[in-house]
Amino acid sequence: MTIAIDLGGRRALVTGSGAGIGREIARWLARAGAVVAVADIRGDRADEIVESIRAEGGEAHPVVADARDDDQLERMVAESAEKMGGLDVAVNNIGMLGSGGTAPLLEMDGAAWRDVLDQNLVLTALSMRAEARIMQEEGGGVIINVSSGETTRPAPFLGGYGAAKAAINHLTDTAAVEWGPSGIRVVAVAPGTTLTEAVADALDDEQVAAIVDSTPLLRMTEHDELARLTVFLASDLARCITGGLILADAGANLSRNRPATGG
Ligand SMILES: NC(=O)c1ccc[n+]([C@@H]2O[C@H](COP(=O)([O-])OP(=O)(O)OC[C@H]3O[C@@H](n4cnc5c(N)ncnc54)[C@H](O)[C@@H]3O)[C@@H](O)[C@H]2O)c1
Repeated sequence: MTIAIDLGGRRALVTGSGAGIGREIARWLARAGAVVAVADIRGDRADEIVESIRAEGGEAHPVVADARDDDQLERMVAESAEKMGGLDVAVNNIGMLGSGGTAPLLEMDGAAWRDVLDQNLVLTALSMRAEARIMQEEGGGVIINVSSGETTRPAPFLGGYGAAKAAINHLTDTAAVEWGPSGIRVVAVAPGTTLTEAVADALDDEQVAAIVDSTPLLRMTEHDELARLTVFLASDLARCITGGLILADAGANLSRNRPATGG
């Protein structure tokens, strides 16, 4: 017997899928048969990913919105569902360090705190709400929130980002309880440090080597590895899984001497 994952007929929104990890999540969901809404603030990037999915024989639609704006965020979710004819899967992938960047807690002022919470926690909470409203009407769905391994241990110099992502883990569990009876599963996932453009720019060779040395599988996480986990969680193979944080990080969360990385 062969077990295959078939997301044919499912409609999936991936936020921030014009680049990095989100781009691979969109591609892999499409490869598994889902119709995908590629939502990004950068229209050029969204168009490029949609073209690459179509070139592989998949179906995808671009949606351009700045999700930091509440009205645009609502429209992003509504337009995605409209273009796809419904919403079965939503991956909330947008997240960033915020304007404070990497900083010791003593240097984090109110503006830096508000920005990092806004761009991670609030943005994810409002995305989930818009998505769940549609899914409740349709009888269920799956919401997958992209968190961080920095929530599994103290996050020196990433205190704001780590706290905001940890709050997303908590929010995920609360939503899993509130929306479970409506047939909506909600799960948080986290990649290990992945050399996306911004992360590669932020880390020098020595820092990359330190991360590799401290990771049980002695390597970084590749761009597509969170995508593979996401495809599984979106599928019926994971139909009993809701709540919790699931990591695809080469075991990095188990390391005691791991340096803070920015992701
Ligand atoms: N890269 C890592 O090492 C790492 C590690 C742990 C967690 N993460 C998390 O994974 C997720 C993806 O990270 P990444 O490194 O691939 O990011 P990235 O910066 O490479 O890509 C993010 C995408 O989101 C889009 N975007 C940004 N702000 C937006 C907005 N307001 N509205 C719409 N689109 C917007 C960008 O244009 C870009 O295409 C984030 O939540 C991040 O916190 C990343």
